[in-house]
Amino acid sequence: MATDSNHIASMFDDIAPTYDKLNHILSLNVDKSWRRKAVKRLKKSLANVSNPKILDVACGTADSTIQIAKSIVNAEISGIDISDGMLKIGEEKVEQQGLSDRISFLKSPAENIDFQDNTFDAVFVAFGVRNFSDRMKGLGEIMRVLKTNGTLMVLELSEPQNVIVRWCYNLYFKNILPFIGKRVSGNAGAYRYLQQTVEKFPMPKEFMDMLKTIGYQDVKHKALSCGLCRIYQANKI
Ligand SMILES: C[S@@+](CC[C@H](N)C(=O)[O-])C[C@H]1O[C@@H](n2cnc3c(N)ncnc32)[C@H](O)[C@@H]1O
Repeated sequence: MATDSNHIASMFDDIAPTYDKLNHILSLNVDKSWRRKAVKRLKKSLANVSNPKILDVACGTADSTIQIAKSIVNAEISGIDISDGMLKIGEEKVEQQGLSDRISFLKSPAENIDFQDNTFDAVFVAFGVRNFSDRMKGLGEIMRVLKTNGTLMVLELSEPQNVIVRWCYNLYFKNILPFIGKRVSGNAGAYRYLQQTVEKFPMPKEFMDMLKTIGYQDVKHKALSCGLCRIYQANKI
């Protein structure tokens, strides 16, 4: 399984042209409602901030970035990612939607974020944390660029804990998903990688303990779709 940033970036460069289409096919469009729910929470957490500055880490093709801009209309948003291919598609989509004045992009790894300390009111990461080559470092960097009282919102796939849901999930994730992924993107490895990274991602308690160890407070999480996806929320105090 790919673990170094260069390898991961080139894998995402490779699947970038089919990424959006496959995301929606493979999740039966449920990914859209997961993003909507996470962005709704983000908006609520920023209710008292007049012109929030938000960072979308591992923004990819900017689906979440655009969703944030449309939902939080007074926000200024920056998106960072390590894949040129994903960023290029994101930039094109943002331009088509007429949002370029409020969204900017930068090629920067989560583990070494190219922004000053205490810059953002909130940081959002959708389906990105499990790809970080150094998770502790990336989450620590996010804390550094968050302002005091800033919020971290993480949306991440997870293995469901209910036995029956888990059986269906394993059948789908280990057999059907890599097959469709290979047929549409031509890259079987990338969709095997997806399944492996979800499998290796810490259980909710372990991930929340990791956030607490880094120094985040008020750490909580909510399971979506029988635990297929989770929203984690934490604050920098
Ligand atoms: C599964 S995609 C998620 C994209 C987007 N957030 C979404 O919701 O569709 C994962 C993204 O993480 C990016 N990525 C992987 N490792 C990264 C890192 N260390 N720092 C920043 N971005 C990273 C990849 O290039 C890819 O665009």
